[in-house]
Amino acid sequence: MSETLHGPGALRTDPMPAWTQHHYGGIETVALANIDVPVPRRGQVLLRPRATALNNGDIRLMRGEPLLVRLAFGLHRPRQSVRGMDAAATVVALGEGVTGLAVGDEVMGELPGGGGLARYAVCPAARLVRRPPGLDPAVAATLPIAGGTAWQALELGGVTDAAATGGSPQRVLVIGASGGVGTFAVQLAAERGAEVWALCGERNRGLVESLGAARSFDYNAVQPGSPELGEGRFDAVLDIAGTAPLRMLRRLARVGGRVVVVSGEGGRVWGPIGRLAAASVLSIGSKRPLRPLAAVAKPDVLAELVGLAVDGRLRPVVERRFPFAEADAALARVADGHVAGKVVVLAE
Ligand SMILES: NC(=O)c1ccc[n+]([C@@H]2O[C@H](COP(=O)([O-])OP(=O)(O)OC[C@H]3O[C@@H](n4cnc5c(N)ncnc54)[C@H](OP(=O)(O)O)[C@@H]3O)[C@@H](O)[C@H]2O)c1
Repeated sequence: MSETLHGPGALRTDPMPAWTQHHYGGIETVALANIDVPVPRRGQVLLRPRATALNNGDIRLMRGEPLLVRLAFGLHRPRQSVRGMDAAATVVALGEGVTGLAVGDEVMGELPGGGGLARYAVCPAARLVRRPPGLDPAVAATLPIAGGTAWQALELGGVTDAAATGGSPQRVLVIGASGGVGTFAVQLAAERGAEVWALCGERNRGLVESLGAARSFDYNAVQPGSPELGEGRFDAVLDIAGTAPLRMLRRLARVGGRVVVVSGEGGRVWGPIGRLAAASVLSIGSKRPLRPLAAVAKPDVLAELVGLAVDGRLRPVVERRFPFAEADAALARVADGHVAGKVVVLAE
């Protein structure tokens, strides 16, 4: 990098390669181009990503769908033109007021709105967690959004560590168990001592069982309402696939149990928001409440996930690592919606 620092926040560099888009749309709107290096503002750091993990959220932002996201991320085009929200990276410059991080530190975290599919990216320092040397950058990059969402879903579902609380093991159903969030949810629930049942595609049943699911079912054969799952048998149901009717999901939970609604499709304008709102309404006064999840970046949770991964108690599943030059193919793979675990793009 040819760069000159003229005091905090002022950084002069050559343009950098980045996968950018200038209007919302499909993969064809994303292209490799040279753009200006972003300048870290107060409280931000400039990062050189080493690995960027992709999420369904990147695809929603790429498409600008549901349309409601455009209110926050840009009406006519994405304000942040570079996708890639989860990164493991090296700190290369500090914005004003940043303390506790230094140039050269290895970190990881969720970049607001994206930016990871570029040579450099900016991120609020407060969102970042240090990456221990033993944790592969590609593995570290999978943790912030998918791992964080799974963790927050378990918390919302009341899934506690049976050994730590002296309680009896809970039975937890994970629907959509083989994707990014699901592979973390299965492992984290099992880690808390739960008996995990999993719904996933037939080809991934072996995978989710290897991650700790006691029982797994092919979602083409077994759905909420099928006798195999019964009624009132689960302390917590995590609906990550978002396809089952809410009333069917609720019947799965025992009285006092909870259903966490992580996802759902509701059309081009509202997307999952309608289903999440309906979950709240249906829960009023219910003994088996449906809890909509709106996961947020939580560095303290990320630090816990890092600890588990370093100890070998959490094994992030990386389906495939793509080179930077093929980041468009990586986005296409995630857009396909059938990833087992995570897709990661490695820096050049
Ligand atoms: N609420 C929040 O705060 C929040 C945060 C993060 C993500 N999300 C949402 O959560 C959803 C999942 O994210 P992700 O990253 O895990 O996606 P992903 O990696 O694309 O995984 C989706 C998984 O769902 C499985 N699936 C599809 N239909 C299914 C069904 N009927 N029953 C069971 N499994 C089914 C797929 O399995 P096959 O490959 O076998 O089809 C795939 O493994 C997305 O909609 C995302 O937007 C919400």
